[in-house]
Amino acid sequence: MVWKWLGALVVFPLQMIYLVAKAAVGLVLPAKLRDLSRENVLITGGGRGIGRQLAREFAERGVRKIVLWGRTEKCLKETTEEIRQMGTECHYFVCDVGNREEVYQTAKAVREKVGDITILVNNAAVVHGKSLMDSDDDALLKSQHINTLGQFWTTKAFLPRMLELQNGHIVCLNSVLALSAIPGAIDYCTSKASAFAFMESLTLGLLDCPGVSATTVLPFHTSTEMFQGMRVRFPNLFPPLKPETVARRTVEAVQLNQALLLLPWTMNILIILKSILPQAALEEIHRFSGTYTCMNTFKGRT
Ligand SMILES: NC(=O)c1ccc[n+]([C@@H]2O[C@H](COP(=O)([O-])OP(=O)(O)OC[C@H]3O[C@@H](n4cnc5c(N)ncnc54)[C@H](OP(=O)(O)O)[C@@H]3O)[C@@H](O)[C@H]2O)c1
Repeated sequence: MVWKWLGALVVFPLQMIYLVAKAAVGLVLPAKLRDLSRENVLITGGGRGIGRQLAREFAERGVRKIVLWGRTEKCLKETTEEIRQMGTECHYFVCDVGNREEVYQTAKAVREKVGDITILVNNAAVVHGKSLMDSDDDALLKSQHINTLGQFWTTKAFLPRMLELQNGHIVCLNSVLALSAIPGAIDYCTSKASAFAFMESLTLGLLDCPGVSATTVLPFHTSTEMFQGMRVRFPNLFPPLKPETVARRTVEAVQLNQALLLLPWTMNILIILKSILPQAALEEIHRFSGTYTCMNTFKGRT
């Protein structure tokens, strides 16, 4: 018993060294991307913004079928037509992910009309963009229902079949604000931090489930309508990401079975600084970079 315990104690650090070295080699050597030609993908919030770009990227990489969910039929229809013109089977369903019953009913309709979903992309989100005291209670609740709880319902609807098939991938379009919050978007930052914990727990819970895994993507500000009007102090130093870049890197992360992706990579530095610097220094970074006041000019999607 003691020998077994001592053995494990010796093997554990070696395992750590091996895994870190393997990840470092993976950063420099080109990795083999997984074939997606047999996958059916569902993207929530797929009608516009990053979701629309994700649909284009999955279609370009040859997935079998794409399903788009959203609230606004017009943009869902436009994106569906575009994806069909690219030669990929595509369907759309109007569904509010914040409404649990609607999610379960629409998931049933998807299974009947399209078949099994093997890649679920939880992308839909909203931002109210105000401080706590300036926000009305219903708006605060809405962000939590859509951005966090919506992922509970969609994942509960599609994960069981993925586990049966031993083939599935859950993707979460989160935000760097989940790990480093800003003032003026308290609803959004809270919902994203909560969704981050959801994905962390889910990802670890899937360790013993062959063929099923998860990816969390944490992008910096991206040039869609979501954060319209938001201003950082040095836009040339910290330019917004393009939705095309976020979509391409997200689909690659799925193909590489990567659990976590921070975009751009420099955001890793921010996270390291956050865990070592004193609070006063962090506050100064927020003031200097303008993230302290960036939501003052926020307009959002009108
Ligand atoms: N833009 C950024 O700076 C940024 C940065 C980091 C992370 N992200 C994340 O990236 C994801 C996509 O954002 P985006 O920039 O593409 O935003 P966007 O252009 O505003 O698109 C959001 C999408 O979510 C959908 N949606 C909202 N509420 C919904 C609901 N209740 N049910 C179903 N669909 C709903 C919208 O559908 P409708 O058109 O019907 O409203 C829309 O298609 C979000 O999770 C966001 O948090 C964005």
